[in-house]
Amino acid sequence: MKGSRGWRQWMLALVFPGLIIARPASSSLGATSISYYPQATMAADKALPVLANVDDPSAVDAQDVCPGYKATNVQTTEDGLTADLVLAGEACNAYGIDIPALNLMVEYQADSRLHVQILPSVLTAANASYYTLSPDLVLEGLLEPGSHAHKELSFQWSNEPSFSFNVTRVSNGDVLFSTTGSQLVYENQFLEIVTSLPAEYNLYGLGEVIHSLRLGNNLTRTLWAANAGNTIDINTYGSHPIYMETRYDTAHGENRSHSHGVFLRNAHGQDVLLREEKLTWRALGGSLDLYFFSGPSPVEVIQQYQVVVGLPAMQRYHTLGLHQCRWGYANWSVVQEVIDNYARFNIPLENMWNDIDYMAFYRDFDNDPVRFGYSEGRKLIDSLHANGQYYIPIVDPGIYVPNPFNASDAYEPFTRGNESNAFLSNPDGSLFIGAVWPGYTAFPDWLDSSAREWWAYELQAWHDKLPWDGSWLDMSEAASDCAGSCGSGNLHLQPIITQTGLPGSAGNLVLEYPEEFNLTNATEAAVAASQSASELAAESATATASTSTSTTYVQSTPNVVRDVEYPPYVINNGHGALSEGAIATNATHHDGTLEYDIHNLFGLGEAQTTYFAHLAMEPNRRPFLITRSTFAGSGRYTGHWGGDNNSRWGSMWFAIPQALSFQLFGIPMFGVDTCGFMGNTDEELCNRWMQLSAFFPFYRNHNVLGAIPQEPYNWASVIEATITAQKVRFALLPYLYTLLYQAHATGSPVMRALAWNFPNDPRLADADTQFFLGDAILVIPVLEVGVSTVDGVFPGLVEGTDLYYDWYSQSKVDVPSTWNITISAPLGHIPVYIHGGNVLAVQDYAMTTRAARQTPWSIIVALDINQTAEGYLYLDDGESLVGDTKSVYFTADKSSLSVSVEGDFIDSNGLDTITILGLDSVPDGSVRVDGHIQDANITWNDTNNAAVIGVSLESAFQSSWTITWD
Ligand code: GLC
Repeated sequence: MKGSRGWRQWMLALVFPGLIIARPASSSLGATSISYYPQATMAADKALPVLANVDDPSAVDAQDVCPGYKATNVQTTEDGLTADLVLAGEACNAYGIDIPALNLMVEYQADSRLHVQILPSVLTAANASYYTLSPDLVLEGLLEPGSHAHKELSFQWSNEPSFSFNVTRVSNGDVLFSTTGSQLVYENQFLEIVTSLPAEYNLYGLGEVIHSLRLGNNLTRTLWAANAGNTIDINTYGSHPIYMETRYDTAHGENRSHSHGVFLRNAHGQDVLLREEKLTWRALGGSLDLYFFSGPSPVEVIQQYQVVVGLPAMQRYHTLGLHQCRWGYANWSVVQEVIDNYARFNIPLENMWNDIDYMAFYRDFDNDPVRFGYSEGRKLIDSLHANGQYYIPIVDPGIYVPNPFNASDAYEPFTRGNESNAFLSNPDGSLFIGAVWPGYTAFPDWLDSSAREWWAYELQAWHDKLPWDGSWLDMSEAASDCAGSCGSGNLHLQPIITQTGLPGSAGNLVLEYPEEFNLTNATEAAVAASQSASELAAESATATASTSTSTTYVQSTPNVVRDVEYPPYVINNGHGALSEGAIATNATHHDGTLEYDIHNLFGLGEAQTTYFAHLAMEPNRRPFLITRSTFAGSGRYTGHWGGDNNSRWGSMWFAIPQALSFQLFGIPMFGVDTCGFMGNTDEELCNRWMQLSAFFPFYRNHNVLGAIPQEPYNWASVIEATITAQKVRFALLPYLYTLLYQAHATGSPVMRALAWNFPNDPRLADADTQFFLGDAILVIPVLEVGVSTVDGVFPGLVEGTDLYYDWYSQSKVDVPSTWNITISAPLGHIPVYIHGGNVLAVQDYAMTTRAARQTPWSIIVALDINQTAEGYLYLDDGESLVGDTKSVYFTADKSSLSVSVEGDFIDSNGLDTITILGLDSVPDGSVRVDGHIQDANITWNDTNNAAVIGVSLESAFQSSWTITWD
């Protein structure tokens, strides 16, 4: 049993408090009671227990028993080759029925991309798992025009002793992927391909999972979308079957590296076994559709991958402002109070959110008329809009199915959806009914146009009543908290939840505080400890009473008719059986597709549908979506938040590797629940976290029902820390927006691992406690409790190749004698540095991004060791899908800055100052703009060798210009 079970029970108990909750193993002393919603009538039935294959000592290894294939009829084609693959011996039927004949297609699609596809040659009942992933949902790589004369990847194959292949890097002969010595296994419910890898490989990706950035060599990565929160090393919300591997070459005395990527375009449940010197990729069906990317730099691998799966959507400017959310804002007055408190404490708030509290009985598209009535809501949203602020509510995919025996229980969105046949069915054609917050629920069939049209209609009808600005798509795995179609035959039990008891009533759940809470909050810790002592005792009694049952696991055998509920190969799903905690795998789409085949795409289908629904409502406004479950290519439509983390120091650190992984996955708009979701936060943790998240693209504070409030204004020190960090964020907004544009246009990552910007330094291979934004900003956050310093590294500084400037003092960071530098970082200070060689265009701090965008520009030139720097700024109206744009290019040296402007977008803000960091000598001569002497004020700061040139240009970026100083 995996760790996610505890989390699910906890969540269930919030709304179904009859369930018994076990305290998580590592409990800290602090605890507080929380409130909950009242009693459910839903049966808490479960799927049967299964034992993961990787945990089963008696499991057969397909490599020991399967015969592999032989290639025949090999034909060279213009862009690669084709061949037939036939089973090389007697079928092994290890975890499915062997498919006797396959087709191999190898295509050199671009100089940097190779496509290797293996499909069953004939479709029969026995190879039913051959599910074609539609490019409508998951894009596929297309052959790029041209001769590909400079191919960097080459494919070699062999039939000895059975079919195997190698993918080699042409420029250095390095074998990147090699199935030599292993068997290809291709069955109706099981595919396996094995590649050898170098010792101590540096491998990244294969998410979504909570883990450090670099994956170790004794891990199993499971891809099966699960409502599993922040459980470490367990499959959680998204599925990204892509890895990047970096190989350092120190052989010739000079450090170099080459990175490459491998993407398996397959949406089935998967286990990827990372073991010493090899990787075994197993899938529960679909096809072997492999793409290889040659890099050679990590950033190039990331870009090449996104050329296949799709580039991320462009974000609206205001979505870079701060977002405030929580589960438990009980009505509009509370929401208004939060907005007012932000204003009262002068903290910029841009986007206000609501969780499921706003819904009538947790039903989508339906506000509670008393607590969240439409006319009051419209007024609130209108006033937000007037202030340059925005409103984003949650939407869940589970649609309440009303009690047919109770006319007053009618729910029109369901009726309309059902009439238009928008929902998934059971295999017999009846409605599939699972259970989420509202009780028994139906789920849209995103593959079907009827569902897409119905969803768009409901969003529009609801938007007509409440002009919200985006959609928060939750539970999109899709989570369902009962086994199978549990609502069938049980609808007379609806409604299972009443809202008579709203948040605030007494409950029995225990919420922990962060580690070491007692060190910095001694009095509160003592009170909390005494409150929780009796609950702990009661829970430990329950835990002892329930430890001694032995389990019988379900194990099915391979068959021509697939067992989609309990397939013969058991992936290492943290929930257990495939249908546990999710829509059942036999839920059926209108075109006959089973959920088994596309479970991992549910969140992508919902995001895609919602994206186009938003566009139908507002055709030239970029949709703003944040979703929980993502797949390869989801970035085209949506951002993602690292949901349901813990209010713990460890969760704050995990946010960095998770964010970096999502840059690799092509979903740069990423952030986590700042200050932590599960459990209570505390002042110190929230202080550090509000500062850290200010450097993530998506910056949202979100909290679980019943935990202590954690908006930044709850503690004086957090107010100050948030404002301090927001001042930096606001200055950098034009840069952050430019990075998001570059991500959208070219796939370049916004947040970057140190190893991505410095690919030739093997010491950085697993650095994930600090990060870059683009190339220009280095962030070294404090991730530990009770400290006032942080150890950080400045790549290239000791070696003398790179320079860094402290953001706040603008001084050059001194060249240290050691690699690790201890940096002063008292509470409320987040160390941020500008990397020499960059030019940044910055704007002023304001209460909203709208106001900030009206402020004058300043330019910071951070010179590198050669006394040069360059930069790029992208501008548009921050909102339109199509419209005028502007590109501004900066090039600077120790005595000049050239600004070159392209594009028609009009930004009429003037220029205030130019700050040049890292000059060798004091400028004391004249300042000229385009050769003409200009009135300018030069201030020279001796301590940091920075010159600030105060120049007044009426409009900074309406035309190109050059400024010189001497
Ligand atoms: C899920 C979401 C969480 C939300 C809660 C209630 O757990 O991940 O963010 O607050 O549901 O809607």
